[in-house]
Amino acid sequence: MSLQGRDRRRYTCGVLTLSDKGARGEREDTSGVMLCELLRVEGFEPVAYEIIADRRELIVRTLVSWVDEKGIDLIITTGGTGVAPTDVTPEATLEVVGKLVPGIAEAMRQASLQKTVNAMLSRGVAGIRGQSLIINLPGSRKAAGENIAVVLPVLQHALYKLQGGTADCGGVPPPAGR
Ligand code: MTE
Repeated sequence: MSLQGRDRRRYTCGVLTLSDKGARGEREDTSGVMLCELLRVEGFEPVAYEIIADRRELIVRTLVSWVDEKGIDLIITTGGTGVAPTDVTPEATLEVVGKLVPGIAEAMRQASLQKTVNAMLSRGVAGIRGQSLIINLPGSRKAAGENIAVVLPVLQHALYKLQGGTADCGGVPPPAGR
């Protein structure tokens, strides 16, 4: 089996939407729904989806439960990465990860700056807790879609490696068109 073949086990994923209005039922969560569908199409198995308020301890508790109890491989958060007083997703994520993957956030911001200068206002981070990868995306459907598109090509390989895959990276051909 090729390395790419081994990369392509069906990883589970969870999408966590951070929105005070969404949690109160006052705003439809188009970003979270779009992300679940996109990840499913990409070969992930969505096993968790929740909309919760922008409360740091609630975010921490949910992330810890999704990793430590449910064992979800990939967790994508959307919302709460900006500079508003209520935006605390990066702080909650930093509290639960043991390692950062700065290149993921750097790549998303770099690509996003080609779309809008407001990209510099997203403080999203990416990191590893146990054998799970957690990535923060901004909240709007447009911003979430533009950001996830940047990282999709590396997600399978990232999970393969962080879960202990030892095959030589050199054997992985770049995704089509790159
Ligand atoms: N990144 C991309 N690619 N496209 C966007 O439209 N919007 C920005 C930024 N990142 C945007 C983006 C805006 S307007 C904000 S305020 C920040 O993400 C933070 O968003 P959040 O608070 O919803 O997480």
